[in-house]
Amino acid sequence: MKDFSIFILGGLGDLARKKIYPVLYNLFKNFHLIKCKRIVVTGRRENVGKKEFLNILSKEVSSDNSFLSLFEYVNLNLDKEIDYKNLKNFIEDEELIFYLAIPPFLFKDTLKNLGMFLKTLKNKRKIIIEKPFGMDLFSARELNMITKEYFEEGEIYRIDHFLGKETVQNIFGLRFSNIIFEGIWNRNFIDHVQISALEDIGVEGRANYYDKVGALRDMVQNHLLQILTLIAMEPPCCIEEKAIRDEKIKVLKSIREIKYEEVPKYVVRGQYEGYREEKGVSENSKTETYTALKIYIDNLRWDGVPFYLRTGKKLYKKDTSAIIVFKKIPGLFSKILDCTPEEDIIGFKIAPENKIILRFQLRPLGKSILSCPIPNTMEWSAPNIDAYETLFLDIIEGDQTLFIRDDEIEKAWEFVQPILEFWREDSNIPLYKVGSFGPKEAEEFIRKDGREWKIL
Ligand code: BG6
Repeated sequence: MKDFSIFILGGLGDLARKKIYPVLYNLFKNFHLIKCKRIVVTGRRENVGKKEFLNILSKEVSSDNSFLSLFEYVNLNLDKEIDYKNLKNFIEDEELIFYLAIPPFLFKDTLKNLGMFLKTLKNKRKIIIEKPFGMDLFSARELNMITKEYFEEGEIYRIDHFLGKETVQNIFGLRFSNIIFEGIWNRNFIDHVQISALEDIGVEGRANYYDKVGALRDMVQNHLLQILTLIAMEPPCCIEEKAIRDEKIKVLKSIREIKYEEVPKYVVRGQYEGYREEKGVSENSKTETYTALKIYIDNLRWDGVPFYLRTGKKLYKKDTSAIIVFKKIPGLFSKILDCTPEEDIIGFKIAPENKIILRFQLRPLGKSILSCPIPNTMEWSAPNIDAYETLFLDIIEGDQTLFIRDDEIEKAWEFVQPILEFWREDSNIPLYKVGSFGPKEAEEFIRKDGREWKIL
């Protein structure tokens, strides 16, 4: 591995302080930054220089001197091209890793200015871009165009931190490292799939961002569709980044379009009571803090199998999971015993714990073989590893498998675009109680298909 330097643009912001520095410290402790020459942080607060920044860092992250000595601090206005020249003092011939830890409204200027500055240098470079990548299909396309004017696709790391999560990666792991699942992973055996990201927290001081965005853009366009692609993709030809990303995009291309006029049939939304009173939220905000969708994938494997997605804030608990629900066992038990065994499921518990659960039916312990079967569970679990740490290591190593490619971003936006457009015109947004399961419309939504939301 070559020497490298890391540049954190927007280095005084929340993301950098809460996420990136603690991750860098862990990587440092575990000897992953041995080749890192320096970490250059840029900010633009008049009363902050290198000394003040190091004070912040030692209070908030670590006072370990050998870690702190890696850092440099540069005052830089991201929208002023000329300021970027200040970075030159910290660059030799190493690889350069730029992390754009900045609010979305600064993306365009920063990409242009950084791109212009880098034209004057020969160093290898990587650029890390946080979500939201665009606010809709058109702005995402524009952002892709600007990014690609200055950077090669192989240099761009669009982060979706869900892909760094242990269990999310193990969806791929379980499916493609075991022969026993492949034969049943299709419409012949699977009744439906549920993907949920339920949160008990609200907007937590991010109302300025969230009120413009809402649950569909914040969670579905990226995280939940990414989980869906891992569940639905075909086996790649080989364990190689392009092959894997090629299979993921095929899934996005096979998703059945939800047309503007079909939105109410396939999508519901809701807002938690009291959201409009949160600081920073507009008093007649129509922003959804909850959404549930039914998605079909029109291909040979998944024809007719609904994928139900849901996400929401201020719900009864934090619970991120993907559940594969198999078809019910036919007739056998119902004829004599008047019992219907539950469906078997494979559950991926993504947060707060990492687990994979196989739920299957057995006769009750010690009872007659003629009894009605009851559910039993087999479980794998693992400790949590910070998703950002996993992804940062991949970036250092130059592995783009877990990052979102330009075509994936655009396909995912293409899918949500009609929903955004429909909601823009529709003022009906049901409310739900804080601490509840979400709007009752979401319960009815799945119940009318003869199914119910499952909990692992
Ligand atoms: C972020 C969203 O991408 O993911 C947040 O912007 C959300 O609104 C968060 O709370 C959830 O991520 P995690 O890792 O805490 O489940």
